[in-house]
Amino acid sequence: MKLANKIDIALPVGTVLHDYTITRVLSLGGFSFVYLAQDKQKNTVAIKEYMPVTLAKRDGQTHIRSNGKNEAAYKHGMKCFFEEGLALANIEHKNIVRVKNFFRANNTVYMVMKYERGKSLQDYIMALTQPVPENFMIRMFVELLNGLREVHSRKLLHLDIKPANIYIRLDGSPVLLDFGSARQALSEVTLAPTYTPGFAPPEQYIDRKHLGPWSDIYSIGASMYACLQRSSPLAANIRLNEDTLVPAIQLGKQIYSEKLLSIIDDCMHIDYLQRPQSVFSLQKKMIEVHVADDARGSLVDKIIKVLTKPL
Ligand SMILES: Nc1ncnc2c1ncn2[C@@H]1O[C@H](COP(=O)(O)OP(=O)(O)O)[C@@H](O)[C@H]1O
Ligand SMILES: [Mg+2]
Repeated sequence: MKLANKIDIALPVGTVLHDYTITRVLSLGGFSFVYLAQDKQKNTVAIKEYMPVTLAKRDGQTHIRSNGKNEAAYKHGMKCFFEEGLALANIEHKNIVRVKNFFRANNTVYMVMKYERGKSLQDYIMALTQPVPENFMIRMFVELLNGLREVHSRKLLHLDIKPANIYIRLDGSPVLLDFGSARQALSEVTLAPTYTPGFAPPEQYIDRKHLGPWSDIYSIGASMYACLQRSSPLAANIRLNEDTLVPAIQLGKQIYSEKLLSIIDDCMHIDYLQRPQSVFSLQKKMIEVHVADDARGSLVDKIIKVLTKPL
C-alpha cells in the first residue's frame, strides 16, 4: 500500500485513546502504525497500533476490522502483537524499548512505549554519504549487545534485528525495537515466519529448529555489513544457492580495521556453528578491536569484568 493511502487510514492528530492524545504520526509500517502521543500528565509516549494494512480496514474514523481477505491471518497477527507486548513487558533494560502500557480499543490493540528521541540506524545510515564511522559503530553495537544479552537470557530470540529496528538516541546510545518476531521463540506452534531479506539468517529460511542466539548474531553481523555498504547485504536464501556475497574483509579494506571486518564475516557465516555462539563472546571480540591499538590489555579485562557482572 502506498504511503499516501496509509496516511489516510492513520488515526488523525487529536484522537483520544484511553488516557492518551495522539499528537503526530511517527511511522506507517506494513503491520503497525506508530504514533507520538501525550498522556494526561503531558508526558510524551510512542503508541504502536496493530494495523496490518493488507488484512484490515478502518471503519469510520477509528475502528479496525478484518477486510475479509484472510480473517485467520488477521487474528493470528493480533495474537502475535499481544505476544510482542508480553515479551517486552517484563524487560527493563536501557537498550531495549520500554513498554509502559498495553490496551484494547477500536477493536485492535495498542502498545504504549517510552518515547525515545533520536532516529533509526537505517535513517542514520541513509543520511550519511560514507560508511558509518568504525568507532561509533563498535561502541554502539557493543552497547546494543548488552540489550540482546538480556533478551537471550530470557530464552527469547529477537529474530528481526536490522538497522530499521535499531534506534539511536540523541546521545548515541542504541535501543532495540520491534519484538514482533520474538513470538516465534515464545510460541509452541510453528508460525509463518517473517523474513527481512538481507538480515535474516539462513536457518530462518530452511531449518528453523537450528534457530538460536547465533541467528540474532547473523542479523547483527548483517546490520554491521549494512553500516559499511550502506545498503542491505545479499539475502541468505540467495547465498544458500550461490554465495556471491563480497566478504566484509574485501569490501571494507582500508575503511574498517581487519579485526572488525573479520568479526562481521564470522557473524555472517552461512554455517551457524562457525559464528560466535553467544552474544558475550561476540562482545568480547568487539571490545578487543576497540582497544587493540592501544595495547591496553588491562582495560579489556576491566570492561569484560563490567560486562560479566549480573545485569
Ligand atoms: N519507542 C519509540 N520511540 C520513538 N520512535 C519509535 C518508538 N517505537 C517505534 N518508533 C518509530 O517507529 C518505527 C517503527 O517501529 P517498529 O516497532 O519497528 O514497528 P514496525 O513493526 O512497523 O516495524 C521505528 O523505526 C521508529 O522510527
Ligand atoms: Mg520495525
